[in-house]
Amino acid sequence: MSIAQATPSSADLLHLRVERKAFAETPVLGQIDLRLQPGEIVSLLGPSGCGKSTLLRLVAQLDSDFVGELRQRPEQVGFVFQEPRLMPWLSVADNIGFSDDRQYDRERVAALIDEVGLSGFADALPKQLSGGMAQRVAIARGLYGQPELLLLDEPFSAVDAFTRYKLQDLLLELARRHHIGLLVVTHDIDEALYLSNRVLVIGNRPGTVRQELHVPLSYPRERSDDTLARLRSQALSALHDARVL
Ligand SMILES: Nc1ncnc2c1ncn2[C@@H]1O[C@H](COP(=O)(O)OP(=O)(O)OP(=O)(O)O)[C@@H](O)[C@H]1O
Ligand SMILES: [Mg+2]
Repeated sequence: MSIAQATPSSADLLHLRVERKAFAETPVLGQIDLRLQPGEIVSLLGPSGCGKSTLLRLVAQLDSDFVGELRQRPEQVGFVFQEPRLMPWLSVADNIGFSDDRQYDRERVAALIDEVGLSGFADALPKQLSGGMAQRVAIARGLYGQPELLLLDEPFSAVDAFTRYKLQDLLLELARRHHIGLLVVTHDIDEALYLSNRVLVIGNRPGTVRQELHVPLSYPRERSDDTLARLRSQALSALHDARVL
């Protein structure tokens, strides 16, 4: 199922239409119509290999070899990868501003360091950080360019559950404060539902949106909310129908 919406709207923060994406002759993505409104939080939930990272790379314009059209995309897009990908020889501050060729805006970097809860670690090297702290640096680096849209590819899958909860709350707080749209790839049903306004369940071969779940809850949310529990079983049956489970 594609994300059907009646007419294109100039209010879209993002609008990507994919007809087909293949590697060599192997189809990876089928028809997908992906839209985000400004400030909207959308998760892509699906099994390994269904094309989630590929889709994110199309949005980021890291790959333009596909049949379809990137109709609308904000000028500034940030990217947070599964692993922090920090330069080991650069300090926290330098890693955050690195994309700006070392002549970066030090005030903005200092503000971001505070915002992600790393006050006092500006001069620390990556090897002095825990996994969760390193991922906070990666989030700050993703925000440095003042994006309207932040893409996150399984950003918390390598950290323990408690750290993951804290990072999810941090991400929601940052998205709210800066009014940034988020497109989050995850394998974790609870993470997808807790974070998102909408969850797109992606099926395999080729990757298409099999179901769209709306989460009608405002923020901040209670993890134990009954609505999340109800949507969880809906997501599970969607994954089952998509032959993922
Ligand atoms: N550069 C590439 N060249 C050839 N095949 C690729 C390339 N990148 C991805 N693929 C293939 O495309 C398919 C989708 O890959 P992708 O990384 O998008 O999946 P994913 O949903 O992100 O999986 P995971 O959850 O494991 O990260 C896989 O079968 C993968 O082998
Ligand atoms: Mg992936």
